Amino acid sequence: MKAPDRVDTERLNLRRPAASDAEAIFNRYAGDERVGEFLAWPVHRTLDDTRQFLAFADAEWRMWPAGPFLIYRHDELIGSTGLAFESKSRASTGYVLAPDAWGCGYATEAVLGMKTLAAELGIKRLYAGVHPGHRASARVLEKAGFRDDGIAKACAEFPNQAPGVLQDVRLYAVDFR
Ligand SMILES: CC(C)(COP(=O)(O)OP(=O)(O)OC[C@H]1O[C@@H](n2cnc3c(N)ncnc32)[C@H](O)[C@@H]1OP(=O)(O)O)[C@@H](O)C(=O)NCCC(=O)NCCS
Repeated sequence: MKAPDRVDTERLNLRRPAASDAEAIFNRYAGDERVGEFLAWPVHRTLDDTRQFLAFADAEWRMWPAGPFLIYRHDELIGSTGLAFESKSRASTGYVLAPDAWGCGYATEAVLGMKTLAAELGIKRLYAGVHPGHRASARVLEKAGFRDDGIAKACAEFPNQAPGVLQDVRLYAVDFR
């Protein structure tokens, strides 16, 4: 089963990215250093970084039932989320919002949209990894009904704060039966 290109939640719509979205993504959040501290990917330095992300997103969508989604409030781009498949039954999720959209419950609403979609696509385990100091993101996942699965030691790099260093990650997961 393939995901639809567009998923609507109460206040947001989540859309499959297109090549024409590069400038909006770069300008709204991907090139903004304020979003970077706890991200697992480097903040984009140039539009070419964003184009590489879009090529990756397209490859994910071709290979798997879904991939990254852009988050829109009405017709304004405010961030991104998605499903990163590791197998047909296991995927991870994440989210990033432009700073002017923080604090409105949008990340929680977007990840709940991904959770619903994951169940519809037959995923058995959906998880997210969070820097142990990132209280806002932990709270998002708690509100969205993810279980705290504890710390995975030296598991991920946070390239905008300590490039090349593997740091601990707190894992959150939800299992579908
Ligand atoms: C983290 C992020 C996605 C949160 O988005 P958001 O839309 O503001 O999140 P929500 O409004 O849905 O929920 C945030 C919750 O965290 C709480 N929170 C925010 N900052 C906090 C802090 N420093 N300590 C504890 N809780 C905090 C909020 O009060 C809210 O909980 P509440 O509804 O119980 O009051 C957003 O700040 C962001 O995009 N940051 C940059 C990218 C990033 O770090 N992505 C996540 C990587 S794991």
